[in-house]
Amino acid sequence: MSKNNIKNVHARQVWDSRGRPTVEVEITLRYGATGRAIAPAGASTGAAEVLELRDGGMRYGGLGVSGAIEAVNGQIHNLLKGKRVDDQAEIDRLLTELDGTDNLGNLGGNAVIATSMAAQHAAAAAEKLPLWQYLGIFRGESDASTLPLPEIQIFGGGAHAGHRVDIQDFMVIAIGASSYAQSLEWTADVYRAAGDIMADSGRLQGVADEGGFWPAFDNNEEALETLTRAIEKSGHRPGEDVAISLDIAASEFGTGGNYRLARDDREFDSDHLSGLLVDWTERFPVVSIEDPLGEDDSRGIIRFTWAVSKRVQVVGDDYLVTNAERVAQAAKDGACNAVLIKPNQAGTVSYTKAAFEAAKTAGYGAIISARSGETEDTTIVHLGVGWGVKQLKVGSFTRSERMAKWNEGLRIAEAISNAAGGSLPVDGNLPPRSAFPWG
Ligand code: PGA
Ligand code: ZN
Repeated sequence: MSKNNIKNVHARQVWDSRGRPTVEVEITLRYGATGRAIAPAGASTGAAEVLELRDGGMRYGGLGVSGAIEAVNGQIHNLLKGKRVDDQAEIDRLLTELDGTDNLGNLGGNAVIATSMAAQHAAAAAEKLPLWQYLGIFRGESDASTLPLPEIQIFGGGAHAGHRVDIQDFMVIAIGASSYAQSLEWTADVYRAAGDIMADSGRLQGVADEGGFWPAFDNNEEALETLTRAIEKSGHRPGEDVAISLDIAASEFGTGGNYRLARDDREFDSDHLSGLLVDWTERFPVVSIEDPLGEDDSRGIIRFTWAVSKRVQVVGDDYLVTNAERVAQAAKDGACNAVLIKPNQAGTVSYTKAAFEAAKTAGYGAIISARSGETEDTTIVHLGVGWGVKQLKVGSFTRSERMAKWNEGLRIAEAISNAAGGSLPVDGNLPPRSAFPWG
């Protein structure tokens, strides 16, 4: 028996940022070290994600997770008791083997990802290290000396805001910031300026699912105009200091290559929607577009990528679902040039890592990402720093389930500086600008 042997795997029900039940797993090791993690939940999920196990029935509107919790406290506990926690690949292999399906439909993707992430935290705790440092320096997975560049939501739309606008995320990336802390400060400036503009025009209505302003625009373009104005009003240069990033989440408003922007009262085929988006990248300071066409519209995504990939980051979220094989196939097809990395889409930490490695092999960018249903869990920030992922998407710059992640980045930045004997800045080095498609 060593300090790395698992003594107990325990799940409990906690609540997420939408007030819905979710699964928290705590793993205790032989000599008392513990690791804990909570499963997040999507709203605009990709069809090919692993399955989140919900109870159905009347209680909690069918969203209960007692089945997933029973799976952890029974089968998963029995499976992992006595096993070594420092072999993450083996733990994840055992979990997927026990489940026996391709989509984790038996144990539940929520039960499995919370267990898998809790194991990573426990392994780090056994070495008395925070997870970012355990992965980066102890395991040698990266030099763990930079923070990822934040991509932060200002307006929320689509499935996260009652389809008040069709586009799901209007975000900013502080591409000219010289540190992680400065990128947050500049984003706070833009967020305040956007709030002022909305208030002045009588359009301030509240916040969407991920905490961005709930938009009251007459059409999708007005949101882009307002965001560009907010960057200017905040004293930063659009496209040089702060640029725009969009998550179109097109699967939410179209299938079979036919799309309908309800807010604009316009119908599009694949090429026309592509054309509209290309036009936006030329008229507004847009540097990144996620899921530009539907997850079933490979041809459209390939054509869009071909049109803009030299100057715009094209991100696959629903289209690539954090799946290494899909990323490799997309690279062959010329679809996208970056992938969103969401651990609970992949199901285990190892599958998540495999998708990130596939992105590196393909020369693709990677953005580690939270979900719309979140909690105080900050695992993604640790994985991002520890693996050397260059971008981070967490939603808005409000509400504690989001700020928990941004703030964890500040703590890690300070710790990186201390670990390097103060030779690195406390406000968090970012990857070099040349590492990004807009660099
Ligand atoms: P989701 O949204 O968590 O609801 O899927 C986030 C995204 O689409 O990036
Ligand atoms: Zn998305």
